[in-house]
Amino acid sequence: MRIGHISDIHSTQGTDFNPKIFDKAVGMLNGLHCDFVFVSGDLTTDGLLSEYELAAKKTQEITSRLFVVPGNHDERNLGFKLFPEFFGETDFVHTLPQVTLIGLASSEPDKDDGRLGRGRYRKIEECVTAGKLTIVGFHHHLVPVPGSGRETNIIEDAGETLDLILRKEVPLVLMGHRHVPWAVKIHKTLLVNAGTFSCNRTRAHFGNTFNVIDIDDHQIKVQVMNVRTGEMKTMVEFSLTDGCCQNRYYEPEKNKV
Ligand SMILES: [Fe+2]
Repeated sequence: MRIGHISDIHSTQGTDFNPKIFDKAVGMLNGLHCDFVFVSGDLTTDGLLSEYELAAKKTQEITSRLFVVPGNHDERNLGFKLFPEFFGETDFVHTLPQVTLIGLASSEPDKDDGRLGRGRYRKIEECVTAGKLTIVGFHHHLVPVPGSGRETNIIEDAGETLDLILRKEVPLVLMGHRHVPWAVKIHKTLLVNAGTFSCNRTRAHFGNTFNVIDIDDHQIKVQVMNVRTGEMKTMVEFSLTDGCCQNRYYEPEKNKV
């Protein structure tokens, strides 16, 4: 199974959005024939109607099935009322043939901070399925992301959420927000951040990227596609059989910030 993991599109008529990069990235993504694409939030910049309309129009160019959660930018200016009109439920559980996908809204109206809260803990508790791979996805990050600047906006209840995810042995968590791709394994869980798909606010040399995640019975492999260069590099390989994790992000030549 192949999953496209994209984030932080930041559609707007202003300067945040790079439509040429978006179109190029979508061409690459469509060529990878993902079973589905998970968008971990911030499809807009200010949650405006015109931005939602643009985001909806542009994301229709993605040929794989899309699953979308909101980010903090999508909640601005009553954007939280628009999100369901354009992208459906903000919190969802989909039982797909090979995985259970739990999408959660970590964002709140007019706040950059995020939190999940007890209602969403229950969703995780109830929906993690024994013997079936579970993926949990939301916008904000759960642990600090290196190379992304001064730390801010980790979800307020990160400790409780992390504890629950580790106790339930959720193998894969997908996040965004920091505009930097990164992955780290903690206990039996792989935490993966996608960089920004099409926002001009990239960080240092990271550029615009998206993640390509291949999962089979034995491992989860995460590759990062650099949209400008078209180069795809393996970031992490996580064995589902013995828990071994090789984090290639920390190989010297790949850790250039
Ligand atoms: Fe964000």
